[in-house]
Amino acid sequence: MSGPILHTKNITMRFGGLMAVDQVQLKVFKNDLVGIIGPNGAGKTTVFNMITGIYTPSAGEIILQDKNINNERAYTISKLGVARTFQNIRLFKDLSVIDNIRLAGHQKLTYSGISSILRTKNFKEQEEKLTEKAIKLLKIFKLEDKKDFLARNLPYGKQRRLEIARALATDPKLLLLDEPAAGMNPKETRELSDLIIWLRDYFKIAILLIEHDMGLVMNVCERIYVLDYGKLIAEGNPSEIQNNPKVIEAYLGTSEVD
Ligand SMILES: Nc1ncnc2c1ncn2[C@@H]1O[C@H](COP(=O)(O)OP(=O)(O)O)[C@@H](O)[C@H]1O
Ligand SMILES: [Mg+2]
Repeated sequence: MSGPILHTKNITMRFGGLMAVDQVQLKVFKNDLVGIIGPNGAGKTTVFNMITGIYTPSAGEIILQDKNINNERAYTISKLGVARTFQNIRLFKDLSVIDNIRLAGHQKLTYSGISSILRTKNFKEQEEKLTEKAIKLLKIFKLEDKKDFLARNLPYGKQRRLEIARALATDPKLLLLDEPAAGMNPKETRELSDLIIWLRDYFKIAILLIEHDMGLVMNVCERIYVLDYGKLIAEGNPSEIQNNPKVIEAYLGTSEVD
């Protein structure tokens, strides 16, 4: 299939009188690495909340692999291959690092409630596979030595990485990252840039990421969408975006004076 895996057709989200997202068109293709940037309050997270079924768009259509998912629930959209992380980390803080990942992998499993009660062979095999997969992810994210720590006891940068690992445990086709570098130091941010590119290639997924760290965005993204006050004001490759007067104005909040 050569069409986009995700296509938002003029999606709009109104909260009372506020147009948080106003007719936004995005396309994400297989293996894409695409960014969404824009000042605070521009509507970036709201776009993710619509794509993942937390909100239903007030208007427009969200097409995921040729299927309209406007009215699908978050659980179904996850099953259809969309995973995400949150701007404010959402882990099960009182579960271990490995259990956070195992739990996410669980939704893929096929054994019945009865077999889990009876602890059948099928149940045990699937549980073992889940643990193996979780350990593989922990190795990729350099968290293997922390596998039995409670998530809450990880330093912030590692919690962010764990959240990405957990998202990948659901075998997504499309991964949405909401400010993955927030709170990271410069070294962690550089490592994250490399990791994001590597993940895209290794898992053969598309990644759509919201990020404020311009170094990361410009390094990692092949295409960038810019939102301002809910509207798409620019789209292009990193150098086009950096030289776009509308984008510069949105960030500086001033008009050019002549
Ligand atoms: N559930 C909600 N109810 C009312 N207003 C909301 C809600 N979610 C977001 N908003 C508003 O929508 C706008 C866009 O928010 P958001 O998508 O979080 O922006 P961004 O992620 O770009 O910083 C903001 O003005 C925000 O206050
Ligand atoms: Mg946000």
